[in-house]
Parts: sequence; structure tokens; C-alpha cells
Amino acid sequence: MREIASRWQADASALDPALPSERKVARIVERHLRSLSVEKKVGQMIQAEIANATPMDAAEFALGSVLNGGGSSPAGDKRASVDDWLALADAYHDASRRRGASRDGVPILWGTDAVHGHSNVYGATVFPHNIGLGAARDSDLMCCIAAATAREVVATGIDWTFAPTLAVVRDDRWGRTYEGYSEHPELVVEYAQRVVTGLQGVAGDPGFLGPGRVLATAKHFLGEGHTTDGHDQGDVACSEETLRDLHAGGHRAAIAAGVQTVMAGFHSWHGTKVHGHEYLLTGVLKGALGFDGLVVSDWDGYLQVAEDRREACAMSVNAGVDLLMVGVDWRQTYDDLLQQAVAGVVPMSRIDDAVRRILRVKARAGLFSSPRPSQRLCAGDRTAVGHPAHRELARRAVRESLVLLKNGGVLPLRRDANVLLAGDGADNIGKQCGGWTLTWQGTGNDNDDFPNGMSIFEGFAQAVAGKGGTATLSPSGEFTGPAPDVAIVVFGENPYAEGDGDRRHLSFSAHDSEPLAILRKFKERGVPTVSVFLAGRPMWVNPELNASDAFVVAWLPGTEGGGVADVLFRGPGGEPQHDFRGRLSYSWPRHALHTPLNVGDIDYSPLFPYGFGLSYRDGRRDTSRLDEADAAAGIPAVDEHRVSGWTYPR
Ligand code: BGC
Ligand code: BGC
Repeated sequence: MREIASRWQADASALDPALPSERKVARIVERHLRSLSVEKKVGQMIQAEIANATPMDAAEFALGSVLNGGGSSPAGDKRASVDDWLALADAYHDASRRRGASRDGVPILWGTDAVHGHSNVYGATVFPHNIGLGAARDSDLMCCIAAATAREVVATGIDWTFAPTLAVVRDDRWGRTYEGYSEHPELVVEYAQRVVTGLQGVAGDPGFLGPGRVLATAKHFLGEGHTTDGHDQGDVACSEETLRDLHAGGHRAAIAAGVQTVMAGFHSWHGTKVHGHEYLLTGVLKGALGFDGLVVSDWDGYLQVAEDRREACAMSVNAGVDLLMVGVDWRQTYDDLLQQAVAGVVPMSRIDDAVRRILRVKARAGLFSSPRPSQRLCAGDRTAVGHPAHRELARRAVRESLVLLKNGGVLPLRRDANVLLAGDGADNIGKQCGGWTLTWQGTGNDNDDFPNGMSIFEGFAQAVAGKGGTATLSPSGEFTGPAPDVAIVVFGENPYAEGDGDRRHLSFSAHDSEPLAILRKFKERGVPTVSVFLAGRPMWVNPELNASDAFVVAWLPGTEGGGVADVLFRGPGGEPQHDFRGRLSYSWPRHALHTPLNVGDIDYSPLFPYGFGLSYRDGRRDTSRLDEADAAAGIPAVDEHRVSGWTYPR
């Protein structure tokens, strides 16, 4: 133990046990721990999915927690209202509290993936995914976004978000690249502290986890951005020093800011799944890093540590997982863990430690003294979800996240110009939002699913309205009559999440050659073009860059597409109203197989380096004609085997 501590430079717990609030927490924890039977203790260690556990189940088994997974909502209704969410939260809460006449049952905790705003909820503000926020290089903005997200989560009666993702992403073929802020730890460290504070409040202050705040999660522990070939849930083969110096900084910063939960990663380190890795979870995280909150498993992640599910469950808990996130069969997991506890395979001391941590987090969150979710301060505020101030904040985030790679002089646009918007992303809010939006994969959403959202096209229409210009939508790029002054082609990746987004190379046109054809057609007809690229990662787009007069990377901007026009148009006085300020937080590849590619590499030779981003002050900045030979020609983009393989337990 002392050895780990010296190797990892030990940290202390973020909350001083001598604080009066902490002494109170300890009293609550010990009192409840004493009153729980082993059955109830095991129940506390289970997190069931709302689709699979009723409030009555939660009461009967004293379940510690529920979650709504990606795309899961009350009664399976994607358009469930704030009232529907609240009613279900109340039902779980009431059931968990009811115990005899005394109503002293342990209150249940509800977690959700509010990973870019409260993104499972109809009408919520959807902020840009983390890759875009990384480009914004604005940690004050991060704190505001986290606070706004917390408000929307509280409004629906939910206590906890599985965010932020603190991955330092080293291979952009990974399907979760967009969930990471950067390939560079400096940004992840800086943001981790601000996001956790925005979500939870300032550790040790009276407002910590007070009204309007929610519990945060540092995920996924540890080093998940470093899997070989960027395979989701794959193996990380780096050294312990790399794990510590490159990947642990964000988690340390989150812990220092008082993050109350940490989620184990699906990946393995040198062949051992993190979910069964005692050294990492108990030795490093709970020991050296001083983390005294709870470790939650990822979705059925504990099942991956051994063939036999009973054995797997025990191994994972013994390694340090405190709360088991169960995809479907929570009764089975409950039985397994109970059996292993009674048999002594999981020692009682480990069960008690896990339950103590769970109770501690609940006590710090004030759950023992809070009324039912709908009665809490800031809860039930129908206006909080999709509040205009939150949407304005999201629109600012979009403006700040845009990265200009090339400008042959066509930008900024005049408001009296006739602009044609082409491409399948021009009027497509679902595509703007990407994965983890209303559905797990982010697929199957149309503009009507975003009652408060604005497409990029709508932003353009608003920008020219009454200013003498026109904005015409033509996804195919066809037009009749006079040529437009400029064509904006909005294109990019379609939504995906987790392993479904894994790619074997970074060529964009190998996926979709249509945008290039559209750009070239405009070129032939002498129409200047601006590309707006929607993507969850840097991609090889040399042909598209060559065919564009200006090229803007918009990442996955979320519901506030109006932020794009804000930057692309001149203001009323003819001067740019908002300049580009986005800077790449990921290096841009020179060819489709140019990955891993990270700042600091010995042979670092990106097409656009980490930190690159033009502004209007740079004036005309063209790239020379870029090499269009596709290094990945013939290689399928997606590894069929992996996508249909075992790695995605559903
Ligand atoms: C993801 C987590 C997420 C969880 C719950 C998992 O598949 O890896 O990031 O929080 O599901 O939806
Ligand atoms: C769930 C997600 C989860 C995923 C894991 C999906 O069915 O909705 O929340 O992350 O499964 O594989």
C-alpha cells in the first residue's frame, strides 16, 4: 500500500472529516448501516434500469439506485414530459423511504447520462459534445454549462449524472472520441475541476450538493482513451507511468473538486479488466488518490471479468466496485451477490465498505433530509428544461467551439447575400447532436424531436431575415434560376455511440462520397463554397478541403445550430460580429491511417497541429492543394466483426 502511495503521490480526501457537515454525514451513515440486514445491504449495492425495476421492486429489495440508460425514459416514451420524469422519481423515492411506519428506508439514488446537457430528456438544452467544448478552451464556460445541466437534471427529479468523461483520447478511431475533451491531459485536468464544481457546487461550502446541484461521475477509470487501435472496451497496454502521468490527471482534479462517484471503464489494462482490477480500483483510486465516494460499475461491466456470472460479480466487488449497474437482470445479480456474501466469498467487511460509501454519497447529497424529488428546491421547474438562458449559453458554446481550417476569403458572409444550404446536415438537428441524444446511438431523431432546437439552416434563415439576403435549403445542392452567391455545405458523420462508432481508418469520403460530389458541382458552376463539417473526431477530408473555399469544423454542436450563422455572418456594421476562437484540441491527420497522432509525438507531423484554428484576423488563409490519394482505399471503415461481436452486451 505504501508503495502504491509513493508511486502515485498520495492525495487526501477532498472533504475534511473534521468538518461539521462531514461528522454529521458519518453519523447518518453508521446509524443506517447498523440497521441494514445483509439482504438490504446487497440491495443497496444494486443499480437497476428503470425499464426493469418498478418502484415496488426498489422497495422490496432496498435497491440502492436506478438509472435510465441511453435512450431509456419513463414508460419508454422518448417524449416523456418533465411531469412524467418527476412522477417516476417520486414513486421510486417514496417506495424506498417506506419501511414500516417509520419511513426510515434508505432513499434511492437515480442516475442518468446527462453528458451534453440533460440529453435523454425531450425539450432539454443539448450542448456541444465534449470534443467541441475542448476546442472552445473556455473553462468558465464549462462551469456554466455544468451548472445549467445540473438545473435541468434536478428539474426532472434526478440526483446524479454520469459525467464528465475524462478520457485522454489517443486514437481517434475510437467511437467515443467525441466524449473526450482532448488528446492532451492539460485541458482534461483544467476542465475536470470546473465541470465537477459546476455540477456539484464547491466542495466543503454550504451549497455543496445543495439546491440545483447534482452528483457528478468521473468516468471511465482509468486510461480508456488509450486502447490498442482505439477499440472500444479494448486493452490498454501502456505503462503505469503513462497511466499516471497522461491519464490520471483529470480524475485527480475531479477528486480534488470533491467528485462523489467514479465509474470503472469497460477496458482492460494489460489483459485484466478494470472491473476486476483491485490494484487500480482499491490500491490506486481508493488508496493513493484518496477517493472516499462510491465506485459504480459500467453497464453490466462486472460480467466481463469472468465466465461465470456469480464469480464475476464477486471478483468485481472484491476488486473495489461498490455499486453494480445492471443492464437487465438485476434480480440475478442480486441473488448472485447475496449468495457470494453469505458464503463469505465477498467478505462482510467489503460489503460494509461498499454500503458505507453508498450511504456516504447519499448523505452528502442530502437525500436523507430531502423531501420527495418534486418538492425539492429547483425541482419541478417546468421552465428549467430548455430554458432560454441555457439555450443562449449553448449557442455561445457553439460559437466558441467552431474551428476554421481554411478561408480563401469567402468568410465572413454578408447578410444581404443569397445563400444556399446544401448537405444532409443543413437542416438536421439529430445529426447536429450526435450520440447520447434521446436515443443511445442518437439515431432515429428528427427535427420534431427537438421542440426547442434550431437547425443550422434555421440559424442562417434568421441571420438574413430582413437584411436583404436569402437562405434557401437544398440538401442535394440542386438549384434552378440564378446561382447563389455562396453555398454552405453541411455534412459529416451520422450519429453513433460507443463501439458502434469504432472505425478502422479516418477517411470521411470512404463513408459518404455525396458531400464531395456536391462541393465539386458547385465548383464547376463557379459558386464559392463553405464546408461545415459535423463530426465526432478529426477525419481525413483532404478532397473536401480542396473542393471548399472555406472549411469550418463544427463538431457535434447540439440543439443550438444558430451559433454557426452567428460566426459566419458579418454583423450589422459589416465587421465580423463574433470571430472564430476555436482551437483544435485533437491533432488533425495528414492521411486516413494517420492515427494515433498526438501532440508531443516524436515524429509529430499533423496536417493541422493541436491548437490550430484560424480567425478573421488572419485574413485570407488558404491551404495549398492537399494530397488526395486515400491511404485507406480498400480498407473497410468499420470492422464488421467487432460491431456484431460480444463486446456490446445489450
Ligand atoms: C457507458 C457509460 C454510461 C452507461 C449508462 C455505458 O454503456 O459506457 O458511459 O454511463 O452505459 O448508460
Ligand atoms: C443502453 C446504454 C448502455 C448500452 C451498453 C444500451 O442498451 O441504453 O445506456 O450504455 O446499452 O451496451
